[in-house]
Amino acid sequence: MKLSHVIAVAALVLGAACLAITGFATVAVSSGNQTDGLPEGKGKAPFLRACVGCHEIEVATRSRYTEAGWRRMVDTMVERGAELSEPETADVVAYLAKNFGKTNVNQAAPAQLEEALGLTEKEAQAIVSYREQNGDIKTLDQLKGVPGVSPDKIQAKAAAIAFRD
Ligand code: HEC
Repeated sequence: MKLSHVIAVAALVLGAACLAITGFATVAVSSGNQTDGLPEGKGKAPFLRACVGCHEIEVATRSRYTEAGWRRMVDTMVERGAELSEPETADVVAYLAKNFGKTNVNQAAPAQLEEALGLTEKEAQAIVSYREQNGDIKTLDQLKGVPGVSPDKIQAKAAAIAFRD
């Protein structure tokens, strides 16, 4: 091989390497800039710190729970070794209940039903009256059948509805 060929090949290899490095750097920088997709909030920082050691963060956010359910879940994780102080535990529970929560339709106050399920004041009141007269609501169909409540609104929020804590 002539010297000029060797130099040309070397230049090509070097150029390709530079391109590859630039490419990697771009990917690294852009993924570093991407947000984590999680909502902001007071409990977010301790959540991201204490809840990633043993499993992916998705394991912690793939299911919804009521506030009581989250309290039990976070307590279990602290027993397993998640490092949270008492105030941080409360913040993380509040953060998860707000953003990955379920509303217990048999316990929630009218204002909570309105806000969490997108109901009118009248609809929320109808649910409260119904459960006072008939006891706990047990199924989604029963809830959809409460007189004066839009079944479509209930269906739209099905994943955020619980019937017990
Ligand atoms: C010391 C290890 C450890 C830490 C830290 C930890 N977890 Fe877990 N977590 C586990 C194990 C083990 C499981 C069960 C196996 C799995 O699903 O990966 C689990 C599962 C879960 C589940 C799924 C439960 C289910 O039944 O599907 C949730 C939700 C969860 N963790 C939330 C959290 C939260 C919130 C935190 C932070 C407060 C946290 N975890 C921190 C060990 C841990």
